Amino acid sequence: MANVTLRAVEKEYDNGFKAVHGIDLDIKEGEFMVFVGPSGCAKSTTLRMIAGLESITSGEIQIGGRVVNDLPPKDRGIAMVFQNYALYPHKTVFDNMAFALKMAKVPKDEIKQRVLEAAEKLEITELLDRKPKEMSGGQRQRVAVGRAIVRKPDVFLFDEPLSNLDAKLRVSMRVKIAQLHQSLKEEGNPATMIYVTHDQTEALTLGDRICVLSKGEIMQVDTPSNLYCYPANKFVAGFIGSPSMNLFDTVLKQDGDNIFVELAPGSRLHIPVEKQQSLANHINKKVCFGIRPEHISLANEGDKINTIEGKLTVVENMGNEKYLHFRVGANIIVARVSDMTISTHDIGKNFVFNFDTSFCHIFDGETEQNITL
Ligand SMILES: Nc1ncnc2c1ncn2[C@@H]1O[C@H](COP(=O)(O)OP(=O)(O)O)[C@@H](O)[C@H]1O
Ligand SMILES: [Mg+2]
Repeated sequence: MANVTLRAVEKEYDNGFKAVHGIDLDIKEGEFMVFVGPSGCAKSTTLRMIAGLESITSGEIQIGGRVVNDLPPKDRGIAMVFQNYALYPHKTVFDNMAFALKMAKVPKDEIKQRVLEAAEKLEITELLDRKPKEMSGGQRQRVAVGRAIVRKPDVFLFDEPLSNLDAKLRVSMRVKIAQLHQSLKEEGNPATMIYVTHDQTEALTLGDRICVLSKGEIMQVDTPSNLYCYPANKFVAGFIGSPSMNLFDTVLKQDGDNIFVELAPGSRLHIPVEKQQSLANHINKKVCFGIRPEHISLANEGDKINTIEGKLTVVENMGNEKYLHFRVGANIIVARVSDMTISTHDIGKNFVFNFDTSFCHIFDGETEQNITL
């Protein structure tokens, strides 16, 4: 069991490229922490610094209260699972899983017991005699996870472990990893897990907390629900959630007691009073207005306020719901509705949409920070 602490951690690569700009993060003992962000935002670099596979330019990393800056990977109490599995091709599954324990001179009986236990947990017992090339991608990835489990590490590090699997297998392996975290907790051996992914769905479903990264900096660290409902800035708002939040650059306006934005001339959206506290300093200034697709619906007859007409451009049918893309002025907006009457035959027609602005967010045009929290 171990917590992981990063203090002012920076990474400059030998070519002078600064990949990580001062990261401070406290990962709790037994926590499932996900690093998420677009490709190149330094997820792997940060994980590899925790693992000891990459040096730290400045700052400090602690695992279980111990500074590990100068400790080799094998002495950090960690086990890492990579995207490409990194199995030994000429060894059997059993020997792949046993290798690190043999190196650590664990007694033979105990090695056997630990490998069999892990194999059972991952349902790969019948594969123990096979070589990696005789298995599917999903099976190989289970072996890679098994190899980490047998070492009973304090901290599991996963770097996009499911990226090479097809969509369906990805979902079932995701569940397996969540179950592994849960079962270790129930056995009284909770493990800290740090999991890197560029996939926000994976992040939301797996993480106790999620650390959203962009360009080597932390954008926000919070629970999945808090990231979704209270994004601290425009980056997090746009990155978390699928389909993405609608975001429009506009100017905040005031007319008497009314504070509003305009998506097109005359297409006003009023900001409810409870969201207005911190907006006074932003009147007539550039802002970004954000609203999630599920907070836009087809308007009912009587709806008067916050209704806007738009031209339907795309209908995405998801089976149980539809994503309606419509144009208002220069903006394309996506609504997520359960209405089953609208179909692709309606493309090109005008519809009136209702915006529930009690769920909107407004971001400062310069700093991009959320000013409606
Ligand atoms: N060995 C290296 N030398 C120089 N730059 C690197 C090296 N490894 C990664 N980078 C750069 O550091 C940034 C972060 O990379 P990485 O941590 O792999 O991102 P991610 O895992 O989020 O996709 C990228 O811009 C990448 O090109
Ligand atoms: Mg990476």
